[in-house]
Amino acid sequence: MSDQDLVIRDLHVAPTAKPDHEILKGIDLTVSKGEVHAIMGPNGSGKTTLAYALMGHPAYTVKSGEVLWQGHNILKMSADKRARLGMFLAFQYPMAIPGLSVASFLRSAINARRSGLTPDPNIDPTDSIRGGIPMGEFRKLVREKMALLKMDESIASRYVNEGFSGGEKKRLEMLQMAVLQPEMAILDETDSGLDIDALRIVAEGVNAMLNPNMGVLVITHYQRLLNYITPDRVHVLAAGRIVASGGKDLALRLEDEGYAPILAEAGLEGEVTDEAAEPALEAAR
Ligand SMILES: Nc1ncnc2c1ncn2[C@@H]1O[C@H](COP(=O)(O)OP(=O)(O)OP(=O)(O)O)[C@@H](O)[C@H]1O
Ligand SMILES: [Mg+2]
Repeated sequence: MSDQDLVIRDLHVAPTAKPDHEILKGIDLTVSKGEVHAIMGPNGSGKTTLAYALMGHPAYTVKSGEVLWQGHNILKMSADKRARLGMFLAFQYPMAIPGLSVASFLRSAINARRSGLTPDPNIDPTDSIRGGIPMGEFRKLVREKMALLKMDESIASRYVNEGFSGGEKKRLEMLQMAVLQPEMAILDETDSGLDIDALRIVAEGVNAMLNPNMGVLVITHYQRLLNYITPDRVHVLAAGRIVASGGKDLALRLEDEGYAPILAEAGLEGEVTDEAAEPALEAAR
């Protein structure tokens, strides 16, 4: 195990509002730097719960287990600290922040990330002379990343996600990732809601961001995303557990057969509803 692996051990998670109702019932997963892991699984199986628990969302409580990242046990850390440590989550349902422009939002996020885990009192990230990103450098960075994602520059002056189309929201998530340059990126259904061209642009954008120092966890229902972003491993999450893991062909098999055969092999027949077959049907349409 290297310090730059994300190591999840026997993770049990419940909603904070319903602490006795475990959604994740023992997840074990290691994502090493430079690797792309895909997580697939029926609706309601706990994929977003895993993403939120990894980022420290207060609505989810870790009942037991551990998560190590860069040698830290991050479960005691706030979401903010985790982000400063290079973790990033692209939301399945990004929220609007009326009153805050995309440009200010990105600049604050970059500056927070630059100030590191334990802010140095001599560095004031809001001040470009004392450690904040200089305006010129910021503009250049954002322009370059917007071009990569084929985004309209006018978006920079709009309020975060306010009135954005579904696809624009997903692209803004990718723009955040591109400017923050995380070392562990979790993408929760970034492909859903994107038209075919946008999917290709976003996937190519993610590919351009891949580097030997970044681990990626891609949550998706569709194998077609994995045609663009080739995963090193594919995992199936069902009923709060990883019930199968394999290479890219596991995603192809799911597309062909739906979840039923794999769930049956895992002894989960009947425990997961037929909603499970839906993504495969949708993909086939
Ligand atoms: N805060 C909460 N309170 C109560 N139940 C919750 C809460 N969050 C999630 N759940 C339940 O936990 C289960 C897993 O939800 P989750 O959002 O993690 O699923 P998912 O795998 O991401 O599904 P999808 O593919 O539809 O995005 C669902 O049954 C959901 O209703
Ligand atoms: Mg989800």
